[in-house]
Amino acid sequence: MKDTRLTIAVNKGRILTELLPLFEKIGIVPVEDIRTSRKLLIESKCGNIRLVIMRGSDVPVYVEQGAADLGITGKDTLLEYAGSDYYEKLDLQIARCRIMTATPSKPDINTKRMGGPLRVATKYVRTAQKYYAEKGIQVKLIKLSGAMEIAPLMNLADEIVDIVDTGNTMIANGLIVRDTICNVSSRVIVNRASMKLKLHVIQPLLDQLRSACSIDPNGSA
Ligand code: PRP
Repeated sequence: MKDTRLTIAVNKGRILTELLPLFEKIGIVPVEDIRTSRKLLIESKCGNIRLVIMRGSDVPVYVEQGAADLGITGKDTLLEYAGSDYYEKLDLQIARCRIMTATPSKPDINTKRMGGPLRVATKYVRTAQKYYAEKGIQVKLIKLSGAMEIAPLMNLADEIVDIVDTGNTMIANGLIVRDTICNVSSRVIVNRASMKLKLHVIQPLLDQLRSACSIDPNGSA
């Protein structure tokens, strides 16, 4: 008998929040309230789908290794991930934002800088490295895990590369956004073996998701 059970690894936080209404539209409803439950592995009421809630950076790991059949995380996370042994099948066009550069809005804020390469604080090291290399700008990348916005204020960096949604965090920390490096939205990725062995359940799910978010089937995915 064909295996019809699917495990979907989902990025917690904003992606999960925006994903739940989309899932509900196509009948994937968790058996308990994910927002209040402390459980990280949650069955859905439809019976053959379970959700595993995790950090975005772990989503491609679960999918590549086959611990999850599908994964949903941001394009920013996938760009940073060193591997690519999965299929990127769908752009859900949720949790949209941009990866941008930003600098202090007051140019004299970094009076201590004494020349040398531009110091850039970011958690998006691969993305930043590629961006500055293409521009021919020599940089010293400083890897941080979060709260990049305070790095220029603390004279740790001259510039940052970070996610911008409303832009409020940048403004609140005295920064001004400069260049857009890329647009970001949530993507559905699929394990290579699952795509073959469970195509009969994965393809209808992808089709449902595509129509639930009104994506042109001829568009990029
Ligand atoms: C992201 C990002 C900014 C903020 C931008 O952080 O790192 O801090 O959102 O949003 P805004 O433009 O609407 O102000 P997030 O809350 O996702 O948490 P993180 O620091 O863990 O990345």
